[in-house]
Amino acid sequence: MVAFTLNGEARTLDVDPDMPLLWAIRDVIGLTGTKFGCGMAQCGACTVHIDGVATRSCQTAISDVEGASITTIEGISGKVSETIQAVWAEMDVPQCGYCQSGQIMSAAALLAETPKPTDEDIDSAMSGNLCRCATYQRIRAAIHEAAHRLEA
Ligand code: FES
Ligand code: FES
Repeated sequence: MVAFTLNGEARTLDVDPDMPLLWAIRDVIGLTGTKFGCGMAQCGACTVHIDGVATRSCQTAISDVEGASITTIEGISGKVSETIQAVWAEMDVPQCGYCQSGQIMSAAALLAETPKPTDEDIDSAMSGNLCRCATYQRIRAAIHEAAHRLEA
């Protein structure tokens, strides 16, 4: 039995302790905004926040989140997240969209930690989030724009 908080709600799951958190979120709980890409912590599609830290849920065992607070794309809220999501839409960042929930989760964690990131900060924080549609330039521009609006 594993107990944790998901998007502000207390959850208890009776599943194999080795089950990846991503499986629990998508297949057991039914929140499908967090995506499966590589399953090997190489693409970032499965990124969630665990106690505020952007984390690959495909390589996190459910037993490792006992007592943790997990946030998925469905649950992010607050000024940073709302600004990022607004800018993402206005700047047409997504193309196919598959990688984008992971991109937004990493961007939100970055801006929460580093309100005025440089290009290097962005590249470093986002380097684990791959995009087959190569939206990297728009992602970088959107993060700068979100930072600018949050500063105002
Ligand atoms: S699915 Fe987790 S990093 Fe690719
Ligand atoms: S928008 Fe298509 S994979 Fe990133």
